Amino acid sequence: MKDYISIFKTLKPFDKTISIEGDKSLSIRWALLASQANGKSKSFNLLKSEDVLNTLKCLKKLGIKINLSKNICEITGNGLNGFNYKNNIILNSGNSGTLGRLIMGLLVHSTKKVKIIGDESLSKRDFSRVTEPLKLFGAKFLTKSNKLPIIIQGTKYAKPITYVENKGSAQCKSSVMLAALNTEGTTVIKAKKSRNHTELLFKYLKLPIKIIRGKKIDLIKINGKKKIKPLNYKIPSDISSSAFFLVLTLLSKNSKLKIKNVNINDTRIGILKILKMMGINIKLKNKKNYKGEKIADLLVRSQSKIKAINCPVDLNSSAIDEFLLIFLVAAKADGISTFRKLEELNQKESPRLIWGSKILNKIGIKTILTDDSIKIFGNPKLKVNKKIIIKDFLKDHRVFMTSVIASLVFGGKWKIFDTHSIKTSFPSFLKKVKYLGAKIQ
Ligand code: S3P
Repeated sequence: MKDYISIFKTLKPFDKTISIEGDKSLSIRWALLASQANGKSKSFNLLKSEDVLNTLKCLKKLGIKINLSKNICEITGNGLNGFNYKNNIILNSGNSGTLGRLIMGLLVHSTKKVKIIGDESLSKRDFSRVTEPLKLFGAKFLTKSNKLPIIIQGTKYAKPITYVENKGSAQCKSSVMLAALNTEGTTVIKAKKSRNHTELLFKYLKLPIKIIRGKKIDLIKINGKKKIKPLNYKIPSDISSSAFFLVLTLLSKNSKLKIKNVNINDTRIGILKILKMMGINIKLKNKKNYKGEKIADLLVRSQSKIKAINCPVDLNSSAIDEFLLIFLVAAKADGISTFRKLEELNQKESPRLIWGSKILNKIGIKTILTDDSIKIFGNPKLKVNKKIIIKDFLKDHRVFMTSVIASLVFGGKWKIFDTHSIKTSFPSFLKKVKYLGAKIQ
């Protein structure tokens, strides 16, 4: 079966408004929390991508009732640790680190064995970052490797823990938060700043959580074993998916785009701050607060002058999923840009720091790459005329979509493999670029 696309033409000027699908992090968190509530929760605009559909499948296997229709998803929870399943079931986390790591937090209290598996990319990723803290609660891991497949066996006698999260990983923080929710006593988490959707949902649900915000570290205290009320939630649009269209527009000629109702949570807008430093202003209109999350319409225009930057490392976590795109912008900047302390980028669905560099080299941009940094030698006159093939990137959805954006703004004759990867996070991605005028074969 053909699983590649060819792109030979850059995009003509456009002036359009689009909407993007629901946020992936919020969709997964809503489903996991709804599974622990007493009663029926409903969500609207839930992202129907493979990562989220796999979350629903895993919860169903754990005995949770789920009804998914075109616009609404209903989950009927049986309360904290209300899972009901047979010993030795297998849960498939597919491509999703968020699902694999967060669901382990919920399984800390289930004494029946569960095997968690994932696809080729997820099976290469480190899980010790969550199994180590979860062991402190009392969970057992019956497999020796740090990688999937992993068998977890929870305990009836979980104890609260003190945990230091020093990678800036929201997945690790959230996994421990979910385990703490179901553990009598106070769990204390000292976490390097990272996306805070789980904290905001806990607060909105009036769960016993206290947060003391520091400049770089948050101190989070959770008092477990409180009943969760059902949660009706309209998932705001995903800024990480929107970012492809922000960059497409600003690097295209004479174009303008409005993206409606995007989640602009402070812990997710690193890309907007970095672009601002590069001289690119993205306007935020119609700002609203929705159940603790901030939302706005984003307005972006083409930009011909782009400044090179030395990216502050403090912004790394809040832009972690957008760096491949930020590197494309740096490729068009006037001067050398530097990005440091990005070792976490190589822990993603593919080693993304390496892939960022590979894509730039293929389009004729010089880079200097180390284990945790990249220097990008920008060229404001960048135009590509050659043949470019992108393949063997572990089906990383963000590598695929970034390559599509590069082809549409820089030119060249591109053949990009693993089209199906977009189903992971952004199934309508190609439909949307076509709506803006892209010719794709
Ligand atoms: C996510 C956290 C980030 C991010 C991922 C989603 C989440 O991963 O890269 O796409 O929903 O918590 P890390 O927590 O491993 O940095």
